[in-house]
Amino acid sequence: MRIDIITVEPDLIKSPFENSMMKRAIEKNLAEVHFHNLREYGFGNYRQIDDYQFGGGAGMVLMIEPIAKCIEKLKAEREYDEVIYMTPDAKTLNQATANTLSLKKNIIILTGHYKGVDQRVRDLFVTREISIGDYVLTGGELAAAVLCDAVIRLLPGVLGDETSALTDSFQDNLLAPPVYTRPADYNGLKVPEILLSGNFPKIEEWRADQAYKRTEMIRPDLLED
Ligand code: ADE
Repeated sequence: MRIDIITVEPDLIKSPFENSMMKRAIEKNLAEVHFHNLREYGFGNYRQIDDYQFGGGAGMVLMIEPIAKCIEKLKAEREYDEVIYMTPDAKTLNQATANTLSLKKNIIILTGHYKGVDQRVRDLFVTREISIGDYVLTGGELAAAVLCDAVIRLLPGVLGDETSALTDSFQDNLLAPPVYTRPADYNGLKVPEILLSGNFPKIEEWRADQAYKRTEMIRPDLLED
């Protein structure tokens, strides 16, 4: 999978890709990630990329031309399955979307800044808009990193069997059950007996029951779907 990220803050977004799982996925050639500094496509000596909004109002808006130039250059080089715009005014990212995107070959992720991008960018180029939650970040870079993490960890070969994504929270619309490790008794706080029993069918039953109860208590909305 190839991901091209268009950003005003390349340095801000790079670090998650230089560490941990995403770094390993890139080193193993399971994911290829490229960063494009929008400023390089800006106007004039100042490399202008934003301007005041028509109609007045606080906050600058990213102009269409620099973004169009960057997207068109990329599209001339290869076909893209999706152009994704990270923005708080969109549907919230969930596991189903991450699963869907993990099956794509080439995607572009556009990260917004300030008041966002000129609406015509969204109308003309964007195939999918994603928010990572109902709060506003300074820019879409961290949101893009979150999306990439959720997608890249699903690519075949990125996670070993022992950390398989299949047993994650949300894969079956349920939160994950509680987990325990040594010691079996910490100052009188004991690990549930069943987990020490060796009876694996019963353990699976217990986990399913715990996952359901946890979901019912914390995220009942997931059970409605
Ligand atoms: N940009 C700013 N806030 C965001 C959010 N919550 N999700 C995605 N992109 C964003």
